[in-house]
Amino acid sequence: MARTVRFLTYEFQIRAMRRAHSMTLQLKHDKAFVNHNWVAAESGRTFQVFSPSSEEVVSTVPDMDENDAAKAIQAAHKAFLTWGQTTGKERSVILRKWYELLVTNQEELVKLNSTESGKPLCEAQAEVSYGNSLIEWFSEEARRIHGQVISSPVKTKEIVLIRQPLGVVSLITPWNFPHAMITRKAGAALAAGCTCVIKPAEDTPLTALALAKLAAEAGVPPGVINVVTCDRPGAAAVGRQLCQHPLVAGISFTGSTAVGKLLYSNCAAGVKRIALELGGNAPFIVFSGADLDKAVDGAIACKFRNSGQTCISANRFLVQEDVFDEFVNKLEKKMKDLVLGDPLSTSSRIGPLINLSQTAKVIGMVNDAIEKGAEVRLGGKLATSLGQRFCEPTLLLKVDPSMLCYNQEIFGPVVVCVKFKTEEEALSIANSTKSGLAGYFYTNDINQAWRVAKALSTGMVGINEGLISTAEAAFGGIKESGFGREGCHHGIDEFSYVKYLCFGLSQL
Ligand code: SIN
Repeated sequence: MARTVRFLTYEFQIRAMRRAHSMTLQLKHDKAFVNHNWVAAESGRTFQVFSPSSEEVVSTVPDMDENDAAKAIQAAHKAFLTWGQTTGKERSVILRKWYELLVTNQEELVKLNSTESGKPLCEAQAEVSYGNSLIEWFSEEARRIHGQVISSPVKTKEIVLIRQPLGVVSLITPWNFPHAMITRKAGAALAAGCTCVIKPAEDTPLTALALAKLAAEAGVPPGVINVVTCDRPGAAAVGRQLCQHPLVAGISFTGSTAVGKLLYSNCAAGVKRIALELGGNAPFIVFSGADLDKAVDGAIACKFRNSGQTCISANRFLVQEDVFDEFVNKLEKKMKDLVLGDPLSTSSRIGPLINLSQTAKVIGMVNDAIEKGAEVRLGGKLATSLGQRFCEPTLLLKVDPSMLCYNQEIFGPVVVCVKFKTEEEALSIANSTKSGLAGYFYTNDINQAWRVAKALSTGMVGINEGLISTAEAAFGGIKESGFGREGCHHGIDEFSYVKYLCFGLSQL
């Protein structure tokens, strides 16, 4: 009887999820966006977009190929001839208007985001606010793209440096932050005076189309923002075109290291500018003497943001031996409060993983660890009663370097805890990876804070802090996590170049 009641409850939940996801969304579009026109693929092909929670089709969009991408690049090139000549103030006004429309349409953007990415509403809300703030930020930065007058070594020459926009840029964006990864790139590109062709991930094209629609409404001229949608099988050819087309000046990519390397090599032939924000394998170190409650809160925020599907998510928790048990007990207690469920329910904190292959990868890592002797303190399997993509918040102990979850980016709600004795040992484990995106540590020793912050081989460090992303700061990695910075005033650097003007003067 109890089993039947539980089953009926799950059935009810799933039906409710489906009803919520089938709602009409005004910003949902089923065509690509090129030169302010809603267009189909030249071939007429389309592909389906699924809700990760209900697994139902939420839309179909054009499955474009490299010829469709070329048309978008040509439109962006034509637009650059005028957009590239506008003043920073003119671009600032339009970007500000875009930001205001994003805020006005926030509620719908949140629903759309949650529907296609499977993020719980609270997460989608956080992403949309963060994504919007990047357009606000770059609307302000557009007016502060300055050159420099350099002291000349001779009286007969004056040296001036000016900043110019690159031209047409290709923005290839991931599914884990379908809103913010576009605004972080497109905001900077447009502020610098570039025009762009966006290729969103095949799992989450709807947010990209909604953003482009609002940009057009805000007064972004035709051709300045274009969105080319394509399914996974055609993505490599479209990606190659977006790197190699002669009218493309540069690309910016966020996604896996493997794809980043491919795009990097695609860019080599034309010596294109490239910015890469690739995978991470973030250490999260807890030193004895740290405020453990604060460390646990930071761990939850950092690890479970977007169900662990975040490049800067903590991947390996390194905990000093004398506080190991206490930290793990406190963490386990907090993890038990994390509600796994329907993303559109306000009580859910963890949603489904994006797709079946991602789910298989995460659960494969958990099983690999279990087979090799890891202890499952919490979770450890799929919550199949909710659907095929819901992974229980999992806490693994007795993890060692032979296990996949120790070496690879997990990208799921799985915490892996490792014990260490000394600061030197912690740093050696933390830095023993080819990735170098973010690192985190908790300590109450100011000398240790400075020492460890400098010693971590990562582009970003959270010190007694688990949430570090903000429009004002420079986001980016080192080593195989890529190069280039996003957000901050440095974000503009990726979309502009310094031109040196040498004025020859007559002898005074
Ligand atoms: C990412 O996961 O790639 C970006 C996350 C962020 O901006 O915080």
